[in-house]
Amino acid sequence: MKKVFVTRRIADKALKLLKEHARVEVHPGDQPPERDELIERVKDSHGLVTLLTDPIEAEIISQGENLIVISNVAVGYDNIDIEAATKRGIYVTNTPGVLDDATADLTLALLLAVARRIPEADSYVRSGLWRGWEPGLLLGSDLKGKTLGIIGLGRIGTEVARRAKCFKMNVVYYQRRRDPEKEESIGVRYVSLEELLSTSDYVSLHVPLTSETRGMIGRKELSRMKRTAYLINTSRGPVVDEEALYEALSEGRIRGAALDVFSKEPVSPDNPLLKLKNVVLTPHIGSATTETRTRMAVLAAENVVKALKGEIPPCLVNPQVLEHRRHSNRV
Ligand code: NAP
Ligand code: GLV
Repeated sequence: MKKVFVTRRIADKALKLLKEHARVEVHPGDQPPERDELIERVKDSHGLVTLLTDPIEAEIISQGENLIVISNVAVGYDNIDIEAATKRGIYVTNTPGVLDDATADLTLALLLAVARRIPEADSYVRSGLWRGWEPGLLLGSDLKGKTLGIIGLGRIGTEVARRAKCFKMNVVYYQRRRDPEKEESIGVRYVSLEELLSTSDYVSLHVPLTSETRGMIGRKELSRMKRTAYLINTSRGPVVDEEALYEALSEGRIRGAALDVFSKEPVSPDNPLLKLKNVVLTPHIGSATTETRTRMAVLAAENVVKALKGEIPPCLVNPQVLEHRRHSNRV
């Protein structure tokens, strides 16, 4: 029977599905397996179910003599060395589509939280300092009539745009390819990155982490933003230069930021961003609802099952692997 190693406990429904098709080993506890353990477990595994916290490097992949599939329980797959897996004929899969609503919901929640200063207001009430209603107490910013600039109008960015329209916002977007169909159906406008940065009241990031997007929002980009603007990041931490962001926020060059993702996760307790009042922080919980995490785990399990059966898994992120597998007579 084929063997599948799962790097963390995932939804029971997904484990049950995997167990119908393979011998399944699950790494216990709520922390990722150590690198040595991962290497050891990969050696005799046919399937690997990974989380975004597992760095699946070339050296780990090279130990997978029997490895057929690496199935990430995430839509992002920047934690996996795709080239190394492809060269060895290993399928890499992700979980697109099933987490768009949850992640878009969190994006709007963060946008509202920073614009309406919810965490500050919550602390204020709890502190016992509240003396009564005041005309100037904890004033924030409107959403209605303001411009939201979406960088990456993909699956999640699109859901964010739809929600923003319900809040009566103007929505502009930037990505490499224009999407006239969505412009028409959602009512969004395509602009250059420069125009998006200089005209948006809120900028929200929804690009994957790639060599092109790493550091996409740095000093120069932040300096283009309005002094009254907010930056929301629910994509990946390294898309933003965190040091430059800290400077912009602490010097009042932008008004605020809301971050679900960080250049280093978990953030270190001495990260200076933690000291700023105009920043709302969440611990990478974009897809963190029970329903969504279950859907993601089940989709990841379905990807593994297909691959173990000798079929092409539905959420393949490295289609070039098919060529490699054909050459080595694996399909
Ligand atoms: P997607 O559907 O593939 O959308 C990505 C968008 O980014 C596309 O519109 C793409 O358009 C654009 N893009 C890619 N490279 C770009 C570049 N160099 N410059 C400008 N735009 C670029 O992905 P998704 O499913 O929406 O997910 C997006 C990302 O969100 C994931 O990769 C993941 O990192 C992150 N995420 C985070 C959480 C969380 O918990 N915080 C949850 C889910 C996802 P073009 O190709 O036309 O440029
Ligand atoms: C979460 O960050 C994901 O990529 O699914």
